[in-house]
Amino acid sequence: MAEFTNISACVFDAYGTLFDIHAPTARIAEELGGVAQPLSDLWRLKQLQYTWLRSLMGTHADFWRVTGDGLDYALEVHGIDNPGIRARLMELYEKLDAYPDAAATLERLKSEGHETAILSNGAPKMLGAAVRNSGLEPLIGHTISIEDAGIYKPSPKVYQLVVDTLGVKSENICFVSANAWDAAGAASFGFQVAHLNRFSQPRERLPGKPKAVIASLSELPALIG
Ligand code: 2OP
Repeated sequence: MAEFTNISACVFDAYGTLFDIHAPTARIAEELGGVAQPLSDLWRLKQLQYTWLRSLMGTHADFWRVTGDGLDYALEVHGIDNPGIRARLMELYEKLDAYPDAAATLERLKSEGHETAILSNGAPKMLGAAVRNSGLEPLIGHTISIEDAGIYKPSPKVYQLVVDTLGVKSENICFVSANAWDAAGAASFGFQVAHLNRFSQPRERLPGKPKAVIASLSELPALIG
């Protein structure tokens, strides 16, 4: 794997990378009667599709709204018509747990002098809640929301927010995402990218090649030196 060179800042995707997006359905798995994982997978798929479709349509709505819309679609597919379950899942989505490898990696990067940040589709309020609730707040320097660009990943306008906010050149930024398409978008923009392959996804057939594919965030500090 190629070594990362001259990295000043490490920037992380949020949902699926630092925060466990499948925790809400797992938390109420019994109530969901055996469809927790397929429901969660479809919820995520529709949430992301709506970000891309709304970006193409020029009809932006924030990530809280598209998360709710994606959940409504997935619940209908699975025949779950229960406002209480919907409310509980959205409440849990606002307070996602961090993955077990997140805090130690961020701590190590910080102690080695790297700036840390989040770049996420998340609306500022939901990102703030997730960062606070997960205990990662002291380990994250900047939390950057795509709301400042008004369009979703993987628009280059979104990745440019990092360069503008941190004042660091794109080639000195390490970007980490568990979403292969986000990793491709960030690499195409000019970041040095690690694809965290938590979900064992195949390589995306898109422009932009990650420099490294890792299985856990704990592999990152050794790569960037
Ligand atoms: C994020 O921006 C794409 O979920 C992803 O946090």
